[in-house]
Amino acid sequence: MKILLAVLLAPMLYSTPMPQPWKSVPAAGHLVIDSNFAIEVHGFTDARVDSAVRRSTARISRQTGIPIIGGKRVLVVERATEGADESYVLDVSPEKAVLEASTVEGALHGLETFTQLIMPGAEGFEAASVHIEDHPRFPWRGLMIDCSRHWMPIEVIERNLDAMAAVKLNALHWHLSDDQGFRVESKRFPKLQQFGSDGHFYTQDQVRHIIAYARDRGIRVVPEFDIPGHTTSWFVGYPELASAPGPYSIERSWGIFQPTMDPSREETYKFLDKFLGEMTALFPDQYFHVGGDEVDPTQWKQSASIQAFARAHHLKTPDDLQAYFIHRVEGLVKKYGKTMIGWDEVLNPELQADTLIQSWRGPAALANAARKGHHGILSYGYYLDHMNPASFHYAIDPQIDQQLLDDKGASLILGGEACMWTEYVTPETVDSRIWPIAAAIAERLWSPKDVTNVDSMYDRLDAISRVLESVGIRSNEQSMLRRMGGGPGLRVLADASESLGIDGRQVARKYTSLVPLNRFVDAVPPESPTVRRLEQMAQKVASGPAGAKAEIARLRAAFTEWSANDTQIDGNFLTSELIPLSRNLSNLGSVGLRALEYLSSGKSAPPDWAAQQLQEIGSMEKPVAEVRLAAISPVRVLLKAIAGSASGSVEEHK
Ligand code: ACM
Repeated sequence: MKILLAVLLAPMLYSTPMPQPWKSVPAAGHLVIDSNFAIEVHGFTDARVDSAVRRSTARISRQTGIPIIGGKRVLVVERATEGADESYVLDVSPEKAVLEASTVEGALHGLETFTQLIMPGAEGFEAASVHIEDHPRFPWRGLMIDCSRHWMPIEVIERNLDAMAAVKLNALHWHLSDDQGFRVESKRFPKLQQFGSDGHFYTQDQVRHIIAYARDRGIRVVPEFDIPGHTTSWFVGYPELASAPGPYSIERSWGIFQPTMDPSREETYKFLDKFLGEMTALFPDQYFHVGGDEVDPTQWKQSASIQAFARAHHLKTPDDLQAYFIHRVEGLVKKYGKTMIGWDEVLNPELQADTLIQSWRGPAALANAARKGHHGILSYGYYLDHMNPASFHYAIDPQIDQQLLDDKGASLILGGEACMWTEYVTPETVDSRIWPIAAAIAERLWSPKDVTNVDSMYDRLDAISRVLESVGIRSNEQSMLRRMGGGPGLRVLADASESLGIDGRQVARKYTSLVPLNRFVDAVPPESPTVRRLEQMAQKVASGPAGAKAEIARLRAAFTEWSANDTQIDGNFLTSELIPLSRNLSNLGSVGLRALEYLSSGKSAPPDWAAQQLQEIGSMEKPVAEVRLAAISPVRVLLKAIAGSASGSVEEHK
């Protein structure tokens, strides 16, 4: 008992922030955080620092539940005379914490780090003593949110900006127009939002509010108006911009569609000139994104006047026509003093050197752009709509293959952006599709290249999830499951499941923007933390059951719950599609219990038993109701251990 208490009251371990700092040296002792906590600022006379100080104090109060009245100087923020952009130094000792930065951005990042250090200790909340020196690896660390395919109200953007700031992301790429919706108020061309948005658009005042909100948090806002393809919503109000006569209506399906701007008419460029004039004034950032991706040339090929234009201008292919169009648009963007960004497809020999390429098609495309002298940002491998695990994204580095790029080319890569396309995402589910997974991408873009330990990343991901909740990020999983009315077993099934991404969903059924995203698949996250922990335990058992008593007990409890869970689900129109999934989980629980029995008792399983069970659970791999049964993995680990020892092979050592 005495020993147990000593363990419980041992000094709290230093909790590493996410993204992991470049240098962090833990020291003895800790700083107490109580209701007297106060932050003092020296050397900054900047409203952004003042509001960040207020926000941090409020956040610490929310994170700890302590009503903070202030009064005692606990954290001092000082302006340093030296230090690169965004860097900061943070010293926490039992007496006080000191944060030094030479820029506002550095101070903001340091405040975020400080709030992450606060944990419950033996006697109260505390921040462990530590010396941190930190700076970003890449200057461009972005998140793209598609607000066209599913409308995202202003509060979604606000809370995601807070979350971005928490993990030191600094660029919101706001995808504002696509076939399914035009989302910004234009005063010059009001039919854009009047006819192209179903009434869901941001007013110019709301846009200014978001830009100020983001700036307060050290985040730039880069708008994207995707042209010349992905433009159906523009043509509902302005069919004359299209390459084929209308009428047009807002697209309700997902995919790549034919409506495309007419590159052959001067009126198109006159319209875009006025439109860009208005929007470049509304969005103050230096960068302006014009999309340029996935142009379907059908309308161009079918139009006699466009074909005649192409011949007259020696534009032999659709790619040539696209290059002509992009070149004209680039000139307009430049005229308004902005730097253009486009997706891979805008790359062509005529492009100005300062145009930035956002690469979604792969490392070769990014390398190609950099070899031609363009700055680049990587989004390939950072597509959140594919619902890959955090570890998948974590392994993708913007400093792509050294074979593809020399040092000069590598230096042109500014960073990367996580992309949240919203075909299968609503305001209710978007947070759970972005977070916490995007924090792993944020770490890839901030921390040293050699910070690659996946288990350690997942530990930080668990910790950052709590921080993200304190800034207002909501998974909504539990409330969605409760709303389904499926009984207590639904939560257990959800913890054992993972939602499929766009690839699995688009082939499963016909979706449109009018199909409700209120099913089990929409509630469960793309990655199950429960199953990941169970798999780790199973690995420990597999490598030596004798030393894994606690893990065996935990696995037994989980498998027992699974095996009985099928009776805990109530049938209704939303849960009926889950019947095979739920049966599979129950069977898996039973198999897992037997496997544990063999491993923990040392009794041999009948010959081929494990091999047969492996085959059986293999058939459970097939998704049910657009959900993957993640729970297979810990059971498979145990079965493989049994199969390996039965055949005398030494699988673990291979
Ligand atoms: C894209 O995914 N079409 C940029």
